[in-house]
Amino acid sequence: MKYSLAILNAGLATLALAAPADQNEKRAIPTIWLAGDSTMTKASSNSATQGWGVYLPYSIKGANVVNKAIGGRSSRSYTVEGRFDSLAQSVLSGDIVIIEFGHNDGGSLSTTDNGRSVCGGSGSETCTTAAGLVVQTYPTYLTNAAKLMTAKGAKVIISSPTPNNVCETGTCSYTPSRFTDYCKIVVKNVGNSASFIDHGQYVANRYIALGVTKTNAFYPVDHTHTSPAGADSVAGQFVKAALCANSILVPYIKNSTASVAGSCV
Ligand SMILES: *[C@@H]1O[C@H](CO)[C@@H](O)[C@H](O)[C@H]1NC(C)=O
Repeated sequence: MKYSLAILNAGLATLALAAPADQNEKRAIPTIWLAGDSTMTKASSNSATQGWGVYLPYSIKGANVVNKAIGGRSSRSYTVEGRFDSLAQSVLSGDIVIIEFGHNDGGSLSTTDNGRSVCGGSGSETCTTAAGLVVQTYPTYLTNAAKLMTAKGAKVIISSPTPNNVCETGTCSYTPSRFTDYCKIVVKNVGNSASFIDHGQYVANRYIALGVTKTNAFYPVDHTHTSPAGADSVAGQFVKAALCANSILVPYIKNSTASVAGSCV
């Protein structure tokens, strides 16, 4: 086949006009990105614990899961280290970004600053540390992070943090932390391209149903980090919550709602 160069150039020019922005770039199949802390990340090989992000791919079809969670990080330190910025550079239209923080975001800024604690509050409050650093709130950090992703055409899921062992006292009970409310505020701030998954509530409900003995067995080291079996259950409850909420993740979930352990809230 032979085309004149002029026609070819005209064709390319039309194409260029039709798709000028790189945010229209799409993958053959979307990527599901995970941003979070040690409860989500892949543990080192000699660890007795595991993060739930490792088990999510077993329930996913038609999308790749890329786990960018890192131990010890908070909404603040993940931001300050430029990790949301670099994630946004990799994100393409049609991707889904799951953001789950909270375990390292608490603590006080008034004495020593560990680089992770956020400024308290649900809005645009700021705190200034003794060293003169201006620290934002959890909703501010995650709203900014989510907007970086939605600007690339991605959808964002803001997930409430996993609970610590809800049965550690010998009786199982759960009260959501303030971060659950903050997650809902983030979704409201971001708008239609963001949605909330109450992961913490689903995990807690599942643990309460399993009871003290089985739940305690999921925590071989401390009350925060789960065994591989615990992480599998925590991943399963994320899937259950997504199915029950009719999340944008549903087209990429292999399992039926009824087949996944637990019950809809
Ligand atoms: C979904 O099904 C796959 C098998 O196809 C299984 O490996 C996975 O654990 C299931 N997920 C849940 C949450 O039950």
